[in-house]
Amino acid sequence: MVEQIDTHYYETLKRRSYLNNKGTLYKFEDWVIKQCKPYPEMRVLELGCGTGKHTFPFAEQVSPAGSILGIDISQEAVTEVNEKANSNQLKHIRAVKGSFDECVNLLHDSKFDLILSCYAIYYAEDMKRVLCALRSLLSPKGHIFICGYGKGNNQEIFNIINHVIPNPREHRKSAGDFIDESSIEEIGKCYQRFSTVRLYNKIQFNGVDDVLEWWKNHPSYLPEIYDQVKGTLQSIFALKGNFVLTKSILGVNYYS
Ligand SMILES: C[S@@+](CC[C@H](N)C(=O)[O-])C[C@H]1O[C@@H](n2cnc3c(N)ncnc32)[C@H](O)[C@@H]1O
Repeated sequence: MVEQIDTHYYETLKRRSYLNNKGTLYKFEDWVIKQCKPYPEMRVLELGCGTGKHTFPFAEQVSPAGSILGIDISQEAVTEVNEKANSNQLKHIRAVKGSFDECVNLLHDSKFDLILSCYAIYYAEDMKRVLCALRSLLSPKGHIFICGYGKGNNQEIFNIINHVIPNPREHRKSAGDFIDESSIEEIGKCYQRFSTVRLYNKIQFNGVDDVLEWWKNHPSYLPEIYDQVKGTLQSIFALKGNFVLTKSILGVNYYS
């Protein structure tokens, strides 16, 4: 487990996502669509669909001849997706409450052309087992695309934190890739082939307060250095007029 999922986690995540979306220079959803190449009859399974950030853009390419099924452990998220699908008359989108570790059993009678999971699959109790088992749900030319944080993610905020922390031994660093190379390869043995892809996406903040709010909702937040970080950000804004954060994203494709 990467981080505990609880109410506080959801609240901080929502706030960060809001600020990321506000400042993004390139839509992450477009990159996901580009990797997945949806087509009208595609049968899509999305694991950890959340409130549908990636689910709904698929509806522009996947027609009612295909289908989009979201699975998420949060009833609140599932309800939101279903309500949005109903109000937009997207009958081929549906979300169901369920967990990653149970979904292969739950869906054993179904086949999908694409299984997608963004910033989610690492919450599975046994990610490697789930990812191997998912092959049984893929159609013969089916494909899995998973993505999440990559090495060097949010490096600019860590640079500021480390600039104000004098002792190098107390310096912070970003979390690294959400899945390591040996796990990627091990899971790859369950498939015909696999490949990886990276995106470095820029988020531009136009005010110190937005950056501070983002940071307060990020696991790297340290209240004891708040004033110093604020001072450093003020100097950056005085010099450049903005602050840019790089989202490092790793994607992995598995082909059946
Ligand atoms: C970081 S959010 C990502 C949501 C969405 N994919 C996106 O990119 O906006 C992670 C999602 O995974 C769901 N989740 C976490 N653990 C899960 C599990 N064991 N089974 C199913 N869903 C889970 C959470 O409820 C949450 O909606």
